[in-house]
Amino acid sequence: MFSDFRGFIEYLNHSGEVLTVKEKLAVKYEIPAAIEQISTRDGHVALFNNAHGYPHIAIVGNLFGKKSRLAEALGVKEGDLAETYSSRRHKLIEPSIMDNGPVKENIITGKIDILKILPVLTHHARDVGPYFTSAVVVAKDPQTGIRGMGIHRVLVREPDKLGIFLNSPPLSIFLDKAEKKGQPLEIAIVLGMEPAAFLSSIIWVPEGTDKFAIAGALIQRSIQLVKCESLDLEVPANAEFVLEGRVLPHERLPEGPFGESTGYYLTYDNPIAEINVITHRNNPIYHALMPFTCEEDVLFDFAWKMENRSVLIDSIQGMKDLRLRFVGLITVAQVEKKNDEDGKRVINELMMCGIPNKVIIVVDEDVDIYNDTDIWWALATRFQPDRDLIVKRDMPGLSIDPSTEQEESSTGSSVLVTKTAKIGLDATKPLSEREKFERINIPPHVMKRVDAILQSYLSHRR
Ligand SMILES: Cc1cc2nc3c(=O)[nH]c(=O)nc-3n(C[C@H](O)[C@H](O)[C@H](O)COP(=O)(O)O)c2cc1C
Repeated sequence: MFSDFRGFIEYLNHSGEVLTVKEKLAVKYEIPAAIEQISTRDGHVALFNNAHGYPHIAIVGNLFGKKSRLAEALGVKEGDLAETYSSRRHKLIEPSIMDNGPVKENIITGKIDILKILPVLTHHARDVGPYFTSAVVVAKDPQTGIRGMGIHRVLVREPDKLGIFLNSPPLSIFLDKAEKKGQPLEIAIVLGMEPAAFLSSIIWVPEGTDKFAIAGALIQRSIQLVKCESLDLEVPANAEFVLEGRVLPHERLPEGPFGESTGYYLTYDNPIAEINVITHRNNPIYHALMPFTCEEDVLFDFAWKMENRSVLIDSIQGMKDLRLRFVGLITVAQVEKKNDEDGKRVINELMMCGIPNKVIIVVDEDVDIYNDTDIWWALATRFQPDRDLIVKRDMPGLSIDPSTEQEESSTGSSVLVTKTAKIGLDATKPLSEREKFERINIPPHVMKRVDAILQSYLSHRR
């Protein structure tokens, strides 16, 4: 197992999964463009060791561009990922607090200039400035002192000032509580966490759970933390970078446009944070995460499905598998029908289970939900709009879906409430007409033989 972020990258490099780009490329647009191309062409991890202006900092992108790498991060085979997660997840292992750690190899205080220290990327044409997109923001509940963390988009506004999108719990709730007390919220922004801790940071867990203890459970050893220099917070001892600071109470400024995970430029009135200390390892590695790529699909699918597997898959009768796309806005469910109402029953259960699944498509077992053409085919041939469609209004929506409406919360909290309608499409075949809907195929033994012949042709051509 890997003890840190760089150990994971070294391992992937030895396995031939890393593509190293040696050309001098700019952090504004060029490196993001290269990450996007590498991610769509072959899915390699992209390593840049000659970023313009940052010759001593390697930049790594598309780290989790393939689901197989999530499994590798936890030291298991891809097919065993879900089972390993469920069997280990609840055996929490508390983090241990160390006196020192590699993240303290360099401690920068005084006048902070973030962009002189970190190669923060500007990703899309109309982004207002450089954004951290893989930043795990750590904070404590101002009432209970329990730690929480999550990825949040962070704009570098000024040399030591950030704009930060604290829209999802637990940090949105922490800020709310701090503001009610008229206090700033202490935050540590961590880049380059060991993979298990990074993955644990994005899962949707019940309030009050320390995600470092989940990370410990997943890799069966405790995550080592160190105290921050200037805050009452703890961060991974082996992280690549940590920025220490405070979110200012009741201050909001327009933050954006930023090209979001849904593929649109979005601007919000968001809080401001001031940074007063940066610590980092020697020869640090910067973790880049390109928005709106298949890496985000992999991460959101993991974030929703691992923790909520029992609600989303195991407890829904007949459910075989579930695929989430576009931040979970589109959900494709594969079911084994036992009676004709099963397709609609699954749609209704999924609509109520708390994920932002605006479009739900239910298909049979003979449809490969990871193959888009197969899904289109099921919709084209098994779905009748006047019979198989369910629409529900006034459901909780996802704020970064630009088609939703946002309202002030009735509780007086500063967090806006997002409303959406949901649609369910039952593209399963009627049970009584199995024969009519039998899928055409070539005899499997012929397919196997021809496949083997073609493989040898293809390998000769290399
Ligand atoms: C790639 C990615 C980007 C995210 N960006 C943001 C963001 O900018 N703002 C935000 O409030 N939440 C964002 N989230 C969601 C949170 O990081 C986190 O997943 C959520 O807080 C789940 O934690 P919880 O179960 O403790 O509520 C993002 C998640 C992912 C996977």
